[in-house]
Amino acid sequence: MVITVSPIPAVNVAAVPQRSPLRYPGGKTWLIPHIRVWLRSLKRPRLLVEPFAGGGIVSLTAVMENLADEALMVELDKDVAALWEAALNYGPELAARISSFALTRESVIELSCKRPVNVVEHGFRTLVLNRTRRGGVLAQGASFTRKGENGAGIGSRWYPNTLIRRLRAITEVAPRITFRETDGMQLLASLLGKPHDDVALFVDPPYTGGGGKRAGKRLYAHNDIDHARLFSMLAESNANFLMTYDRSLEIESLIESHGFHAVQVVMKSGHHALLPELVITRYPTFSEAGSLA
Ligand SMILES: C[S@@+](CC[C@H](N)C(=O)[O-])C[C@H]1O[C@@H](n2cnc3c(N)ncnc32)[C@H](O)[C@@H]1O
Repeated sequence: MVITVSPIPAVNVAAVPQRSPLRYPGGKTWLIPHIRVWLRSLKRPRLLVEPFAGGGIVSLTAVMENLADEALMVELDKDVAALWEAALNYGPELAARISSFALTRESVIELSCKRPVNVVEHGFRTLVLNRTRRGGVLAQGASFTRKGENGAGIGSRWYPNTLIRRLRAITEVAPRITFRETDGMQLLASLLGKPHDDVALFVDPPYTGGGGKRAGKRLYAHNDIDHARLFSMLAESNANFLMTYDRSLEIESLIESHGFHAVQVVMKSGHHALLPELVITRYPTFSEAGSLA
């Protein structure tokens, strides 16, 4: 299948505002310029839905940059869910916990063995583990970062002041964000049954096909999605969506059979390998809209 390269390049993540407290594996900060063009091309969405939220950068950006009135974030992973519950409902308490924590290898190991007593503790544990494990991977078997950034060890990605600043910004927009710990597929099935011309869907499911380095099995505890069903559900609805996937023959054939449109964005991985990602929409969005970016 011939897929054209998007006129909008993948940005270096340092070039867009980092709004999530999580450093999420498979995080889509690099996609933000595409998200802005896509959301501005629609009648202003009342609601942006992110059924596989992870680090939530798209929901946070949509609300903070006023590209949608509200956002609904959905995530099945209970640890990630606890972080969002805590950040959205108990931001000041979570910030206080961050500022009083003395991070050492021992304090992180102690925290990882403790059963959290409430949602703030649970969310805090998620945040610490996310920022001290290699690649931010929370799934079982993930190891701690060894040398860390510039040899600074386990705390090389622990920036308390930056995290507290991001949490304050989230608390400000929290009244416009709803979070639900549930199955994104089920949520989509019930949402797509009704006509919605004021809802936009950002769909970034875990993908275990394609064999890529970022294959979802290693990265996420929940990774079993029926991709063919997901494509059919979107095709049968009238919802406006933007999906992202690693490029693979399976996904190309689903795009073709449903008559969707896709552009390719070439991503540089941390190891400078070039990884092609697909940005999939119902209507051609980037070939024409690219010049608006
Ligand atoms: C590719 S990641 C999303 C990354 C996100 N777009 C970001 O920028 O951080 C996919 C996410 O879907 C979650 N997930 C997997 N199966 C799910 C399901 N059935 N319902 C909701 N979330 C699910 C995973 O835990 C993971 O956080």
